[in-house]
Amino acid sequence: MPVVTLEGRGDFTEWREAARRLLISGVPPEAVDWRENADAGSDLFDRGADGRQVPAPTVSATSTLTVPKSFLDTAAAAICHADPARFAILYRVLNRLQRDRNLLSLTTDEDVAMLNGLVKSVRRDSHKMTAFVRFKEVGHRAGSERRRFVAWFEPDHYVVARVAPFFQRRFFDMDWMIATPRGVAAWDGAVMEVSSAPGQKSPMSDDTEDLWRTYFSSIFNPARLKVRAMQSEMPKKYWKNLPEASLIPAMIAGAEASVAAMAERAATDPPAFHARVRPAPDGQGSVVPSSRMTLEDVRAEAAGCTRCPLHCNATRTVFGEGPPDAPVMIVGEQPGDQEDLAGRPFVGPAGKLFDTVAQQVGLDRKSLYVTNAVKHFKYEMRGKRRLHQRPDAGEVEHCRWWLDLELALVKPRLVVAMGATALFALTGARPKIADVRGQILYPESGPGVFVTVHPSFLLRIPDAGRREEETARFAQDLARVAELAAHPSIGQAR
Ligand code: URA
Repeated sequence: MPVVTLEGRGDFTEWREAARRLLISGVPPEAVDWRENADAGSDLFDRGADGRQVPAPTVSATSTLTVPKSFLDTAAAAICHADPARFAILYRVLNRLQRDRNLLSLTTDEDVAMLNGLVKSVRRDSHKMTAFVRFKEVGHRAGSERRRFVAWFEPDHYVVARVAPFFQRRFFDMDWMIATPRGVAAWDGAVMEVSSAPGQKSPMSDDTEDLWRTYFSSIFNPARLKVRAMQSEMPKKYWKNLPEASLIPAMIAGAEASVAAMAERAATDPPAFHARVRPAPDGQGSVVPSSRMTLEDVRAEAAGCTRCPLHCNATRTVFGEGPPDAPVMIVGEQPGDQEDLAGRPFVGPAGKLFDTVAQQVGLDRKSLYVTNAVKHFKYEMRGKRRLHQRPDAGEVEHCRWWLDLELALVKPRLVVAMGATALFALTGARPKIADVRGQILYPESGPGVFVTVHPSFLLRIPDAGRREEETARFAQDLARVAELAAHPSIGQAR
């Protein structure tokens, strides 16, 4: 029986060459003994116990074997699996494909089902790698501004080469190395090197770990905790390399108490609707802007705002906050449940996420003026919970009175519209955010408006990998804002 020994570290070419030779020589699947991990110096084709070697091809080496393209894609994925049986399964399917070109469509066929199972688990492992690699910063490259990062990850299969292009696209502007027991990938801005040799784990810890923990605790909603789903999305085997995982047991243990506290707060805290209904609004704010008016004067006026019915159900006006001469103004949609109770913008989950990402890119929240397009919380009751409702165009229009005063008094050089409501309030236009994201739009008057997504959009993405990807894009947007803020001329009204 011919023995074929492959290194077997996800290299498709190595298996393809061997399989091609066997097939051309007419060796049937049951006659091959596939083995993994060549000893140094061993040949691809060893003699079997019976001394037989793969016969030399009886047809010309240039003779072509054709297989459906879908098989090549499937095989390239399946070969990354760690199961030693993969070589034989693939060779069996390859053989059968010579007689039955439609074999792969027979999903109930045992060989095809096994092959699909391999592919599925390689894809899942690749996806987990994109979601759970955690980089740690290790300084700058000598003589360069480029920051360097390393990460340790433990995949189940040989997926490093498959996943490396994803990291190259995502982290194009930094040097990085991802080491795993099943290979190493490294990018330096020009060349990507991928090796199938096992990497080394270096013991390291840095501030990024705290950021991950802050990020994780800010997106954790105890009321939505589903332990099974969470453990399936973030299986325990990955925890040891995830800085935020150390929080999970305590979060799960404390979830019930947190939910009870939330319910209690929702039940006992305002709003007491009838207690706060004010005399009928005349549709105008009482304030008449004057050149001597300060932001504090406007804030005090806004506290009694009755310009639209939203004041009836909200606890209080949530006015903007930050330095009265901040160079950058951040505008969100409207206060949420926690902001309504605290009386401050962006202190709930979306605010925490914003703070984390801003800090990560060097944007200090204390230097920003943070506000909302609409100053009262709009919601509907679901049991004892107050669920956010998007403000309509009329409510945004009414509240523009306050936003315009904030803009006139703070005079920011750049305004950041987070999400569609803010963009509408600032420009009167409703383009799709995806079409204008990252651009600076210039309304008829006032400073330029940089467009990005709202952080609650990120919190609503169910898939961890996609959420992380979108959060990285949001970080890129905020990094751009930090950069623009440093340039005195950028964003000024044209
Ligand atoms: N979402 C917003 O748009 N603003 C806040 O203040 C909180 C959540």
